[in-house]
Amino acid sequence: MSHSRPCCCWRYARIVVAVSGLVVGAGLPTTEAKKEHDPPVPLSGLTKEEQARFEEGRQLFEFPFTPRDGLGPIFNARACEACHHIPTIGGHGPGYRGNIRYAEGTQGPAGRLFHERAVPGVSPETLPGNALLSKRRPPTLLGLGLIEAIPEEAILANADPDDKDHDGIRGRASMRDGHVQRFGSQAHVGSLVEFVSDALRQEMGLTSPTQGFDRETSPIELPIFLQRRIPEPNVSLETVRKLVDFVALLAPPARDAEFVGEAHQVTRGERLFRELACAKCHVPAFRTGAKPFMRMGDPTPVTFSVLLDREVSPYSDFLLHDLGPTLNDGIALGVAKPGEYRTPPLWGVRFRIHQLLHDARANNFEQAIVYHGGEAAASRNRFLRLPNEDRQALIEFLKTL
Ligand code: HEC
Ligand code: HEC
Repeated sequence: MSHSRPCCCWRYARIVVAVSGLVVGAGLPTTEAKKEHDPPVPLSGLTKEEQARFEEGRQLFEFPFTPRDGLGPIFNARACEACHHIPTIGGHGPGYRGNIRYAEGTQGPAGRLFHERAVPGVSPETLPGNALLSKRRPPTLLGLGLIEAIPEEAILANADPDDKDHDGIRGRASMRDGHVQRFGSQAHVGSLVEFVSDALRQEMGLTSPTQGFDRETSPIELPIFLQRRIPEPNVSLETVRKLVDFVALLAPPARDAEFVGEAHQVTRGERLFRELACAKCHVPAFRTGAKPFMRMGDPTPVTFSVLLDREVSPYSDFLLHDLGPTLNDGIALGVAKPGEYRTPPLWGVRFRIHQLLHDARANNFEQAIVYHGGEAAASRNRFLRLPNEDRQALIEFLKTL
């Protein structure tokens, strides 16, 4: 599969083929033919053109880029799919060695992405000895188009940075240039165009024409004769747009149908979820905007009608919260302070029960809840005081999401 490390001889073979100008991949042993992951699921009701768009984006999402395409010089994986494929392609990723942000002791809390791999002839990065480390798990991309279609005002309506209602829960929007940023573990990214361009550049070393993402993350050290054959920027705007449309059209994870509306325990768990104020941050429902909308960093409006005027259940407020010192790993992305994290959407959380919280440190729901301190301390304490049966009911409810 694309994320399995090819053996060195194979890697060199690709470089040699690239240099001699033959068709990349022709006649080489390839593991790509075997499909390891379940296919991606689009939103239902796509037009023929949208389906075609989704399919083109899917191919790019699964495509293992090579140095000839501009991969590297340092990178973490050759395909988006490597980190986003559970339970279906486009979903979350396995714990991955490369998903580390770091900051050197003297340089403040802004986290840089660590790159664990490099193209032949280039040395991979090494972590400075005094570095502060922060693991970030690859989150699910399912339903992100609908999340992007939630109007900014609806997100701002839940913000309470000065805790005016005195419930201990604040929640502040991550603002940039007067707009709400809603993506990323610390709400540090404003739109899917920005995130996809960032993933291409940061995780794969592929530059694109998107403003701010058109330069390599580290100076190119490749031999000049090889460099000349690599397109610059490495991928086209059309490639970025196809990937964005693919991500935007992924269906959100559906609730586990077996339990919805039925089982007594689950209904009780859902009620407790509200009573314990979990739902104040993990907001169960939003309605997407009715009209085409603009994204940050993108001059073209989003017009897909499947994204508009829909009821969605992401279980997040997309705001930043301080959950106390235990979760604070000292790294800050965007305008977040160290220790401020964006409420993660809980839809599809049943697929990642053993990989909870921004660094996947929690192995089960109880642990994840126990780690909630700071603004969520009251909510956690109420959970801990519940009778066993009620605690179980709340967890059974989470398992249906
Ligand atoms: C090496 C692993 C890796 C690869 C490869 C990778 N990602 Fe990710 N992705 C991550 C991690 C880790 C995060 C979470 C970063 C954070 O928010 O701290 C993430 C987050 C995202 C998000 C934001 C999700 C959200 O809820 O805010 C998007 C969108 C995304 N990736 C798209 C892509 C695309 C498109 C590609 C291919 C161009 C890609 N990723 C390749 C690891 C990866
Ligand atoms: C003050 C806001 C707030 C409240 C209240 C709150 N949470 Fe959270 N929750 C968060 C944030 C922020 C995170 C992410 C923390 C991190 O990644 O380190 C989170 C993470 C989680 C996760 C892990 C999700 C994942 O994808 O890893 C679960 C499960 C969860 N919360 C359930 C609950 C439950 C159940 C309650 C009520 C007992 C609750 N939360 C109350 C803000 C809140």
